[in-house]
Formats: sequence, C-alpha cells, structure tokens
Amino acid sequence: MLLTMTMAAEAKVTVSKAAFGKMPDGTAVDVYTLKSDSIEAKITNYGARIVAIRTADKAGKVGDVVLGYDSLAGYLADKKTYFGAVVGRYGNRIAKGEFKLDGKTYQLPQNNDGNTLHGGTVGFDQHVWTAKQTADGVEMSLVSKDGDQGFPGTLTAHVKYTLTGNALRLDYSATTDKDTVVNLTNHTYFNLGGVGSGTIVDEDVTLNADKFTPTDKGLIPTGVLQPVEGTPMDFRKGLVIGKHINDKYEPIVLAGGYDHNWVLNGAAGVSKTAARVHDPKSGRVLTVTTTEPGVQFYTGNFLDGSFKGPGGVVYAKRTGLCLETQHYPDSPNKPSFPTTELKPGQTRHSTTTFTFTAEK
Ligand code: BGC
Repeated sequence: MLLTMTMAAEAKVTVSKAAFGKMPDGTAVDVYTLKSDSIEAKITNYGARIVAIRTADKAGKVGDVVLGYDSLAGYLADKKTYFGAVVGRYGNRIAKGEFKLDGKTYQLPQNNDGNTLHGGTVGFDQHVWTAKQTADGVEMSLVSKDGDQGFPGTLTAHVKYTLTGNALRLDYSATTDKDTVVNLTNHTYFNLGGVGSGTIVDEDVTLNADKFTPTDKGLIPTGVLQPVEGTPMDFRKGLVIGKHINDKYEPIVLAGGYDHNWVLNGAAGVSKTAARVHDPKSGRVLTVTTTEPGVQFYTGNFLDGSFKGPGGVVYAKRTGLCLETQHYPDSPNKPSFPTTELKPGQTRHSTTTFTFTAEK
C-alpha cells in the first residue's frame, strides 16, 4: 500500500528534454518540459528562461500564460524584452552604471539612458547556462567571470526550477570569490488570459506593500520609501490595472505606466505573499511568494509590437506583466536600502514561487 502511494506521488511530475536550437557558435541549447497533473512548464538553458507555462482556465481550457518564442532563434533576435529570463548579475538599474565597493569605483556598460539595466549589454539572459535535470525540475548554473560586464569577482549562480502540482518554484543561490553585488530575478511576462488574448489592463492585481520606491526620469530610485496610501500605487486591496495606469500622477507619467519597485511588507529572507493577479475573464489566478524584499511590477509599457510570438501573435504594449522579485533597484548606490553586497564565504539565497489556480 505504502509503496503504491510513493510511486503515485513520484509519478506526478515528469521532466523531459528536447533540442531548442543552436547558438551562432554551434553550442546546442535545450528546452526542458516539466509536467505535473495541472501545469506544463518549459524552461530553456538559454538565459535560464521560462519559455511557456500551460495551465487551465475556469472552464478547464489549457493555455500558455507567458510571453515567449517557440525556438531559440526568437530569443536570439530579441535583446530588448528579457522574456522569461533570469536577469543578472544585477536585475534592474544601477545609476550611471557606476558603484563603489570597498573604496573602489566600478564602471558597467550604460545600456539604458546612461544607466545600467539588467546586468549590462550581455547579461545572464544571453548566456547558455549548464542544465542538470532533477526528479521534478531542472537546475541551471552559470559562472560569471571576474570583470564580466565590469562587476568584480567570479560569481557562481544557480537557479533551481521545481514543479510541485500547480506551483513552479525558483530557488536562487550565488557565491563569489571577491566582494561583489548581486540581484537575481526572473523576467517572465504573464498574461493570464493566455498569450494572444490582448492586453493585461483588465486583470486585477494585489501587492502586499505599504510603500514603493519613487524614481527620477531615468527610473532610478530617489532613495525615498513612499507610502502608497491615497495614490494610484495602492494595490493593497486589489486594483484593476487599467484603472489608474494613465493617470497624470508623476511616477506613472515618468514610467509610462507601472514600472516600479514595491517595498514588500514582512521580513526579507522570509517567504511571504508578494502579489496576486486575477484575470476575471479566464478566472486564472497567479500568486507570487518570495523571500526577496521587493517586487518590480512592470506592465509591459515598452513592448511595442516589434516582436512576434508563436502563430504570429504580436507582442504589443501592455500584453504582458512582470512581477520581478528582487532587491531594490540601484541598491549599490543607496546605503539605506537592503544590501546587495556578497562576500566570499557567503551564499545569497532566495526563493520565489509562482502558483496557478482558477476561480469560477
Ligand atoms: C524594467 C523596465 C524595462 C524592462 C525591460 C523591467 O524590469 O523595469 O523599465 O523596460 O524590464 O524589458
């Protein structure tokens, strides 16, 4: 009896591997399919990216709820969106691509209006990671050499994807051989109505945050933690995205919609609910939990229709939303923010889980 039950539990997740394409230098890239009784997730080792997540709506209809491409070629041609990628070494922005550590100034590539975005011109999203299949997922590893994109220290990063029932869990870890800074996240664009169903503005979002970090026009935080109370940034009780997205409220005007870091309630390092997204049409619900202190809620304002997905679907403005669990942008230059510094002998761990359900 016991044996049968164990076998049944083990049979719940299957993992398989297939070819996804070849890098210009001939390196083979794969895609791993993780399948449980309720979710199918596809992960490639190019950028350790989530390529697809197929899950049922309230009527039981299965659809892909993340923006992506069906082969490596699509990802190689798109250096703008970061679809599904693990971004690093430093997710989001560092002002003027510059920071001081142990009295030394480091200069990074300025790839975003004079600032550094998502780790520089060749971030972790553009690397082929080493993949290791596990019983219920896949573990991606990358070694970023001392001086890679201007960052000090050889950084070894691991992102372990594990599927359990309706939850896809990401366990990040990083170590270094010299003092450095690190901020890893995942840049998946979700559209709970399904890819190709239009924009995400009718979806409603709840963010577990009393404060956010307002920015200058280059989207660099001013350093202030501003209460959301009484502003269009107040998602504590749930808010339809489109309700205030075009308001003449300065932070929204500067970002062209939502593209900000919310300061999550609860202790950093402890898992807590960060966000909940609900699509009233399909009934699909995404719940995001994390140990990180912040989340970048980005409404795909810069998607401009120049990239097309499977079947010719056009990735137009606001057709996907990101919930990038993270340390706050520009932390290396903001001593009052939770530190992103990592020293030899330490391991930076974080965990983020995406759980999918459907409501009638
Ligand atoms: C940033 C956006 C940026 C986007 C790139 C987000 O994390 O906050 O400003 O345009 O990534 O796809």
